[in-house]
Amino acid sequence: MTGPDSHPIGGWLKLCEEVDGFVAEDDVLADARARAAAVGCRPVAPGVGTALRFLASAISARAVVEIGTGTGVSGLWLLRGMSADGTLTSIDVDPENQRAARAVFTAAGNGPSRLRLINGMGLDVLPRLTDGGYDLVFVDAAPLDHPRYLDESVRLLRAGGIVALNGTLDGMAADDHTGLALREVAKQAREDERLAPVLLPLGDGLLAAVKRAR
Ligand SMILES: C[S@@+](CC[C@H](N)C(=O)[O-])C[C@H]1O[C@@H](n2cnc3c(N)ncnc32)[C@H](O)[C@@H]1O
Repeated sequence: MTGPDSHPIGGWLKLCEEVDGFVAEDDVLADARARAAAVGCRPVAPGVGTALRFLASAISARAVVEIGTGTGVSGLWLLRGMSADGTLTSIDVDPENQRAARAVFTAAGNGPSRLRLINGMGLDVLPRLTDGGYDLVFVDAAPLDHPRYLDESVRLLRAGGIVALNGTLDGMAADDHTGLALREVAKQAREDERLAPVLLPLGDGLLAAVKRAR
């Protein structure tokens, strides 16, 4: 066979298309993506979105923290997997992005009890959140901070809770600060005995880990 599918990269791209198209996104998510493009923010890939909904559903997540609200693509997927009475606490340093996300969440029928949007730097806000008080933490801000976000997430999660960090394969091999941070967080997740990690080749890479019961 010749053509793009016979080439290893062509085959891989085809696989990514299949994964991202596995569950179709609706008009609300399309609106969130259009808003992201307008403000220059990069939302999670559809395959990552479906994984977030899957993870939140699997553990009937009620209390979820997100760092990097953006315009609400990942938040919508999370809300769709969480229990109906659950609350998404989402942190972003950019108020314009968060305003867009709030409009998207509201248009999707999420009332104020489902949302706690906090404007601020993730590493300033997380220390104010309760130890062991959360079922799931999703990190999608600056990859340089991933190692510190993983530390904070382990503190925030209940036993059986899940942390997921986005973009963990994008530049992992690079000889720069981001590459160093991504290799460090992968090692940290592998070596922390409190965690059962998995590295999923979705989007730019999704590193997820369950916090084990002691
Ligand atoms: C890749 S976008 C998030 C996309 C979003 N998760 C989605 O799928 O729609 C990254 C976001 O993180 C925010 N951000 C970057 N550094 C941050 C920090 N230190 N603390 C909080 N938010 C941060 C940016 O303002 C941006 O909105």
